[in-house]
Amino acid sequence: MKTTIAKVGKHVGQAVTIGAWLANKRSSGKIAFLQLRDGTGFIQGVVVKAEVGEDVFKTAKELTQESSIYVTGVVREDERAPSGYELTVTSVEIIHEAIDYPITPKEHGTEFLMDHRHLWLRSKRQHAIMKVRNEIIRATYEFFNEQGFAKVDPPILTGSSAEGTTNLFHTKYFDEDAYLSQSGQLYMEAAAMALGKVFSFGPTFRAEKSKTRRHLIEFWMIEPEMAFMDHEDSLKVQEDYVTHVVQSVLANCKQELAALQRDTSKLEKIVAPFPRITYDEAITMLQKDGYEIEWGEDFGAPHETAIAEKYEKPVFITHYPAKIKAFYMKPDPQREEVVLCADLIAPEGYGEIIGGSQRIDDEELLKQRYDEHNLSEEAYRWYLDLRRYGSVPHSGFGLGLERTVAWMCGVEHVRETIPFPRLLNRLYP
Ligand code: 4AD
Ligand code: MG
Repeated sequence: MKTTIAKVGKHVGQAVTIGAWLANKRSSGKIAFLQLRDGTGFIQGVVVKAEVGEDVFKTAKELTQESSIYVTGVVREDERAPSGYELTVTSVEIIHEAIDYPITPKEHGTEFLMDHRHLWLRSKRQHAIMKVRNEIIRATYEFFNEQGFAKVDPPILTGSSAEGTTNLFHTKYFDEDAYLSQSGQLYMEAAAMALGKVFSFGPTFRAEKSKTRRHLIEFWMIEPEMAFMDHEDSLKVQEDYVTHVVQSVLANCKQELAALQRDTSKLEKIVAPFPRITYDEAITMLQKDGYEIEWGEDFGAPHETAIAEKYEKPVFITHYPAKIKAFYMKPDPQREEVVLCADLIAPEGYGEIIGGSQRIDDEELLKQRYDEHNLSEEAYRWYLDLRRYGSVPHSGFGLGLERTVAWMCGVEHVRETIPFPRLLNRLYP
């Protein structure tokens, strides 16, 4: 019977056939251990010469790394195996023989691995990371669908910027200028006025010249937007959403987290509510710790890490100075120089995973911001319309998928959290 590694548990004691690749092998004169993978998982196949005969044993013993095969064998329970099962092989049929697979079990440098990203994805570690990424996406759809949000897809080609003009990707749209989307937010605000509670999930682009372990040029963002919800309501949704994501990964990615040697005790503590501090408090905290930072300056990665280290859960930093945040953020009515916004900083040094805010809902104030930020009224006329026809308090946020994957998996650099990373110096493969 044909099956997959993920499903062998249903066939204990039975003979099954699996289409697989040889990830690695060990052998002696009498026995060969085949590390097999089929995309759904990893399993060890044991080939005993005395049981299978000369021919099958020879085929198994001479199999090259990453050759594709149909392997037939009997499923056995095995407590020591990471998957809980092992295959006692009875036959091996070669589909395609791989010659000189470049990624061998020895250590390779990062640049070499990145040049072979199309093959590197097959490794156990990369497989685990991609499965965790998939689980975060699944849990995202689950959470927002259950909460009554509609998925809406904003455009990727746009005529204006959402997050400032410094890192826009410019292109031509026939005779017009166009940009790749930095954020779907402005369009999601229009969608929220039509559908109430909406979320998007899509690629966003920022020509960031920064070469850090947290920045990608192309990254994926989840952007919920909610009509009739204020800053406070939005924080509640954010902490519930992040809790759902973390708990789903813990529940459904046990093997992957084990393969990544992730310390899950740290993730188990991630349950709403999350601590909140104001920007002012964060500045005081940093100054006490000896950082030279003044009110009005933005935080860098070391600042975020220093703040995050004080908490076991993600921490919201709220009420940033208006002048270091985006044009659309609503000022705090109690204190006009700060805005109703929050960044959510992940623990363990993974940095800002969410940026969010309540949006300006007043037409005159928004016009004033257009002037201050040199935004053309022409390009943003439609956005102003949302404040002209039934304006309501509304809020939203954006969660960076790759930083969240990095945090869940405990991987250092976001380049491993997306199938084909786009980095400052990398467009290949
Ligand atoms: O804080 P940001 O810039 O917020 C926005 O774009 C808002 N328009 C979102 C909204 O309110 N709808 O970006 C949101 C998140 C960040 O917190 C970070 O996790 C991620 O997107 N992010 C990046 N991830 C990887 N590489 C980059 N270059 C990133 N820039 C932002
Ligand atoms: Mg931000």
